[in-house]
Amino acid sequence: THPIIFDTDPGVDDAQAIAIALRHPAIELLGMTTTFGNVDVATATHNALLLAELAGREVPVAQGAAAPLVKPRHPAPAHIHGANGLGDIALPAVQGRADPRSAARFIIDTINARPGEVTLVAVGPLGNLATALQLDPTIIDKVKQVVVMGGSVREGGNVTPVAEANIFNDPHAAARVLTAGWPLTLVGLDVTHRCVLAPGHMARIAAGQDKLGEVLAGSYGFYRDFYQEMLGIDGCCPHDSCALAWLIRPELFTTARGHLTVATQGEAEGQTIFAPENRGYIEPRWSRTPLADVCLGVDGKAVVEWITETL
Ligand code: BDR
Ligand code: CA
Repeated sequence: THPIIFDTDPGVDDAQAIAIALRHPAIELLGMTTTFGNVDVATATHNALLLAELAGREVPVAQGAAAPLVKPRHPAPAHIHGANGLGDIALPAVQGRADPRSAARFIIDTINARPGEVTLVAVGPLGNLATALQLDPTIIDKVKQVVVMGGSVREGGNVTPVAEANIFNDPHAAARVLTAGWPLTLVGLDVTHRCVLAPGHMARIAAGQDKLGEVLAGSYGFYRDFYQEMLGIDGCCPHDSCALAWLIRPELFTTARGHLTVATQGEAEGQTIFAPENRGYIEPRWSRTPLADVCLGVDGKAVVEWITETL
């Protein structure tokens, strides 16, 4: 099994991924850490606690970044995930409370308690991981691996023509996390845009669940409308679940190894730039950062089937 920390900003597609993390027998969910992103951080924490409770599980939730490290925070547009992050459906009250530690402290403590074992899966803006790195750089050598849903190297962006939302929302944090030199895989729009969770899949998911299923199906309807308007597809891209699909079923993906760079300013702000390894560039700075793996291809149908089956 994979012991993981799930760093998240729930979020409709985050909620689907959290349900997978709670339910998949090969995943041991050690805790969730929350960040601003799709919603403000207090709402993200509320939603993470709620989803665990609906699944009947006690999972620590540690609250983290309320804003980007450097740039000012733009409020999340409510038409994508709803003002409450879960498609504005009515939600039951939360019983539990957040862990008293900050997200960064929770990450550091958890990795140090089990050196070499813990996988960090990050599916929101990357401030919590960046802060953890800054407070305790020794986690670079102690984490098992880091899987980031974010970025785009060939596909183009979803916030600007070149920037994906999680990277764009805190490019300075992303720059630190993607160039830290820990074993990292980027699961970006290059693959998540090839995966479409259609209404038929969601009907199967909802049929197999109880309270949690109502929230997943209810919020899905809202998210589907957004995809219909923006991309003209019937269904939605389960971005964040793809990071877990990579962890559990890597054979469904193809990856390339190379150097990652994040543009932090100007027109290209939030762009992830990928320089495949062993390619000489006349301008050497593109190959100075440590190596990372980037997902470039995917069997999208198989990933969506895996998500549906798991749920
Ligand atoms: C990412 O941005 C968020 O809106 C989603 O939850 C996902 O993590 C996709 O670009
Ligand atoms: Ca997310």
